[in-house]
Amino acid sequence: MFKIVERSPLVPNLHLLVVEAPEVVESIQPGQFVIIHAGEGSERIPLSAADWDREKGTLSIVFMEVGTSTSKLAQMKAGDELNTVVGPLGIPIDTMKYGTVVCIGGCFGMGSIFPVVRALKESGNEIITMLEGRSENLLYWEDKLAVFSDKIIRLTRDGSCGYKGHIKKGTEILHEMNIKPDRVIANGCTTLSYLAVKEYEHYNVPVIVTLNTIMIDGTGMCGVCRCTVDGEMKFACVDGPSFDGRFVDWEELAARRKQYISEEAFLVHHSGCGGI
Ligand code: FES
Repeated sequence: MFKIVERSPLVPNLHLLVVEAPEVVESIQPGQFVIIHAGEGSERIPLSAADWDREKGTLSIVFMEVGTSTSKLAQMKAGDELNTVVGPLGIPIDTMKYGTVVCIGGCFGMGSIFPVVRALKESGNEIITMLEGRSENLLYWEDKLAVFSDKIIRLTRDGSCGYKGHIKKGTEILHEMNIKPDRVIANGCTTLSYLAVKEYEHYNVPVIVTLNTIMIDGTGMCGVCRCTVDGEMKFACVDGPSFDGRFVDWEELAARRKQYISEEAFLVHHSGCGGI
């Protein structure tokens, strides 16, 4: 069993989960994920690592309350136990020295981009971190990210803090600042990842995104996380979850992600949990 040390709301709809998982954090690297099971009747939920403490053996995860299983997870508290935390899974993100790296985090991705930012800074890169959200009250961990960032750029769609606009605005800001990225890394929902690719591909540098596919086993056995990258079939759990988004088949990805929407809506409706 894996004891929960903390489960607290970070911003509306996003939660921090800190769980004791010493064997998982012993070898975990930026960009890897774990699969959690929140108890009977829950799905297996793939969640990116947002931080870890190897001495204490604790793993931090930021998750979004988006369906029945994550709603169950959001009701758990310190002292409760999870029966499954499998990992580390997936291939770590490359964090070599590239030069100037723009790291974009939106939603749960403001958490999962943190270990990537930290490792890239430790490799000697100049880090421009962009935090993107609808409004100021949805931004978090700026203080943690600032420690390893040369510049933090805040983007809010309502203009309540930083620059007003979506990530499209980010390229304009970089242009004004005369910053040319050598690599772009975006963590967040599929829409943010897709938009990051569309807005940044003109730089002709890799735009690394972490795909949020449906997963079951996380070990390449079930095939449910199948996606197409550069014309080749890949399994996000073992070949990813991070890929150069310029080569991802986004149409196929979107179609596969919608497969269980009606079942999930049914479960939410009949479970007394909040909405999707
Ligand atoms: Fe089963 Fe990837 S989750 S093959």
